[in-house]
Amino acid sequence: MMLLSLLATLVAFLSFAGLGQAVAQQGGGNGGDGVGQQSKSRIATTATRASTTAPEAAVSTSTVACNNSPLLCSRNYNNITHMGAHDSAFLRDSSTSFTVSGNQFYNATVALSAGIRLLQAQVHNQNGTLELCHTTCTLLDAGTLETFLKEIKTWMDANTNEVVTLLLVNSDDESAATFGSVFASSGISIYGYTPTSTTGPVSTWPTLRTLITANTRLVTFIASITYDSTYPYLLTEFDYVFETAFGVSSLSGFNCTLSRPTSLSSSSSSSAISSGYMGLVNHFADTVEVFGISIPDVTDIATTNSASTNTTGALGAHGTECKSEWGTKPTFILVDFWNVGPAIKTADQLNGITATGRTSVTTAELTASSSFGVKGDPRSSCAIAGTAMAALAIVNFVCL
Ligand SMILES: *[C@@H]1O[C@H](CO)[C@@H](O)[C@H](O)[C@H]1NC(C)=O
Ligand SMILES: *[C@@H]1O[C@H](CO)[C@@H](O)[C@H](O)[C@H]1NC(C)=O
Ligand SMILES: *[C@@H]1O[C@H](CO)[C@@H](O)[C@H](O)[C@H]1NC(C)=O
Ligand SMILES: *[C@@H]1O[C@H](CO)[C@@H](O)[C@H](O)[C@H]1NC(C)=O
Ligand SMILES: *[C@@H]1O[C@H](CO)[C@@H](O)[C@H](O)[C@H]1NC(C)=O
Repeated sequence: MMLLSLLATLVAFLSFAGLGQAVAQQGGGNGGDGVGQQSKSRIATTATRASTTAPEAAVSTSTVACNNSPLLCSRNYNNITHMGAHDSAFLRDSSTSFTVSGNQFYNATVALSAGIRLLQAQVHNQNGTLELCHTTCTLLDAGTLETFLKEIKTWMDANTNEVVTLLLVNSDDESAATFGSVFASSGISIYGYTPTSTTGPVSTWPTLRTLITANTRLVTFIASITYDSTYPYLLTEFDYVFETAFGVSSLSGFNCTLSRPTSLSSSSSSSAISSGYMGLVNHFADTVEVFGISIPDVTDIATTNSASTNTTGALGAHGTECKSEWGTKPTFILVDFWNVGPAIKTADQLNGITATGRTSVTTAELTASSSFGVKGDPRSSCAIAGTAMAALAIVNFVCL
């Protein structure tokens, strides 16, 4: 009975959403989260959002927030911890039948409204179109990059005191021109910021207020791309940023050691920072399943995303450790399931702020039962959805 009613709900949902949209959402949520792909999928988007609708001229008053706090307006971009959503487009929600491969419970727009200012995504070439796919587009496709960028632009249009960062993984080694044409067609290129050096690290980034006043509020890093001055705001990630290891499968496995770029691997994190690089902390854990496939570790997520500074594996402890080891706080942090914790609490602690203007999102895990009022584990609802999708002759449905 429950299964039947869930099936009916899904069918109704799919009919309502329209098949095209349903397929896109399915794709986005399914992630063949192989370790190899994950290594290629570090993309961070940093977005800054101020809670206000005040005109830019009002930024100079001390009560107006930049990225959710007046204290951040006069701070340099690289002297702020920007909390980020790893694989921000791959959802584990009703649109993906709660796929165990999803990395987030809520989409990018909700994330921005809740204070997330860095969005990471993985970009593939699907028959000449840039798509957000988890591993491969045949397995999962969260829609086009253009649609994703339009959603972010819409949010930035409405939130004029917010600075946002994007981190995109260039899985198919596309050119800056290919990315640039999509940034232009989405409209978001108008917000693109170009730093003083387009080839190397920058020790002193502008303050948020400077970025906001100039309305260059989008900082975009693309992993492994050849810089093209025609699209000056598309920055090569590892010319500016170093990262800690990812693919950690134990909560005791997090550290602050520089892992990438390999060109800096003989350097310590603190010497990279002295050279002007910004540090990105990867703080998400994977569970290794059969056949060596890794999926996001949701079992330990309350601990992983906790702001506690004295719990092994907690974000608060990891952030504090990196700040101590590096002599400065991390500029970027990437987490899975950002609403749990909430992860943003650790960024607020590191930034020393009490935030304003955020939308409150539950810190609970989103499950089929919390969403549908039906008990069932993600795998069984996934199987049901698979049946429903097959009945609708949608061939690309994969449940991991
Ligand atoms: C970073 O911001 C903190 C807090 O405002 C401030 O104390 C520190 O001097 C700043 N560091 C730099 C290098 O500007
Ligand atoms: C994001 O999620 C919210 C809440 O579920 C929903 O209202 C909104 O339409 C979604 N946005 C996009 C662009 O899918
Ligand atoms: C990609 O293009 C090829 C050749 O036109 C076509 O056979 C294939 O179905 C397309 N794939 C997708 C996913 O659109
Ligand atoms: C840091 O953590 C990664 C991932 O757990 C591990 O591979 C690496 O050996 C660690 N480095 C140090 C110096 O502990
Ligand atoms: C950990 O920190 C919390 C809050 O600061 C404190 O209440 C608790 O006693 C600490 N636990 C240990 C084991 O130090």
